[in-house]
Amino acid sequence: MVSFMSEPKKLFIKTYGCQMNVYDSERMAEALGSKGYIETTSADDADMILLNTCHIREKAAEKVYSELGRYKDLKAEKPDLKIGVAGCVAQAEGEEIIRRQPLVDLVVGPQSYHRLPAMEDAVRAGEKALDTDFPEDDKFDTLTKRAKVSRGPTAFLTVQEGCDKFCAFCVVPYTRGAEVSRPSTRILREAEELVASGVREITLLGQNVNAYHGHENGLAGLIWDLDKIDGLERIRFTTSHPNDMDEALIDAHASCEKLMPYLHLPVQSGSNSILKAMNRKHTAESYIKLIARIRKARPDLLLSGDFIVGFPGETEQDFADTMDLIREVHYGQAYSFKYSTRPGTPAAEKPQLPDEVMNERLQALQSLLREQQTETQNTMVGREVKVLFEKSGREDGQMIGKSEYLHAVYANAPQSVFGTVQSVRITESSTNSLAGTLI
Ligand code: 5AD
Ligand code: SF4
Repeated sequence: MVSFMSEPKKLFIKTYGCQMNVYDSERMAEALGSKGYIETTSADDADMILLNTCHIREKAAEKVYSELGRYKDLKAEKPDLKIGVAGCVAQAEGEEIIRRQPLVDLVVGPQSYHRLPAMEDAVRAGEKALDTDFPEDDKFDTLTKRAKVSRGPTAFLTVQEGCDKFCAFCVVPYTRGAEVSRPSTRILREAEELVASGVREITLLGQNVNAYHGHENGLAGLIWDLDKIDGLERIRFTTSHPNDMDEALIDAHASCEKLMPYLHLPVQSGSNSILKAMNRKHTAESYIKLIARIRKARPDLLLSGDFIVGFPGETEQDFADTMDLIREVHYGQAYSFKYSTRPGTPAAEKPQLPDEVMNERLQALQSLLREQQTETQNTMVGREVKVLFEKSGREDGQMIGKSEYLHAVYANAPQSVFGTVQSVRITESSTNSLAGTLI
């Protein structure tokens, strides 16, 4: 007789928000792997559903509740199905989630994933499990080693979490807590394992990654140690704060060949009075000067940024200052958002701007940023770039990869280029990608 006892249980994780959540979801899947779970891409055949949530902008919690509501019938059909909420909404809402949505069995904050196996035992025993502590131990160290499954050539690696900057609009210091850096020895070990399993590019992640202090020489020190790993070809990092771009990191952009010429350096606004109200602790001028220093070190660097329009008190002149800063800096890539009130943050107390004003400003800002992005992408035509091929394209014989500048590049190439870096001459620029031919 076939025993069904040993059949793996299926885990469906839905990930919202930033790359740190993508990384966390992977680690949660690994943690639950120790309890016999394998991942599935559909909620319908899952034994456990985990929503890894984001709380950065408004309505996040509402979206989670409405998503949870959709699992009601599924749970009725399958009483053994367990449903969990992880991530920043879990941290912010805690027990309230179980009160409001009794379908939920498990609530786990971003610092407690390593406790998932024990929490799974509890929910299988019919209990509710809640853990939103900020434990002292390094959750990543307690988690099982990253499985040596065959993986793509790129990977995220979280090196620090949390933030001490307290920008007036941002929930991160509350949901992810104070800045904590992982020791570089553990990161290097994890990086070596990733490379041994086929990874060629590592993106170091942190909410405030350049504040990393788990190495005596900061993030630059860690990058230089990673540079020594044979087989690792590319290093990236995100997201940075302008005030933590130290000389050593700028130098690394000049002289570390594995460090890619791409930098995400949010400024949020170009108005000094708004920057002050945002508690950013830098000015538009200091940011522009910093960009000049970085570009001197690495002239071809592609710059990316984040912008918020409609922060409380933002006047037409403040907004015009942001547009001027964008024109002066010129971004190859950017993300922009309407200001969204986050309860508990200092800015939430201030009177809000009308939605129409925010919409209008966001449109104008996005159209300028789009223009710059297109211009930057178009300048690639005719140039030779290095592409790390990551997957097959839809057409036969087509492969897709990323250039040094993080542009998606399509090329006719054999499957054998998968996971390798190849020289490609760019021949065409379309809406969100480039096309080229192997050299
Ligand atoms: N409203 C709008 N955008 C926000 N961000 C963070 N908090 C808010 C908020 N309350 C944006 C910032 C940040 C990015 C990750 O999200 O631009 O850099
Ligand atoms: Fe939030 Fe980034 Fe500011 Fe930290 S530096 S408070 S994560 S916006």
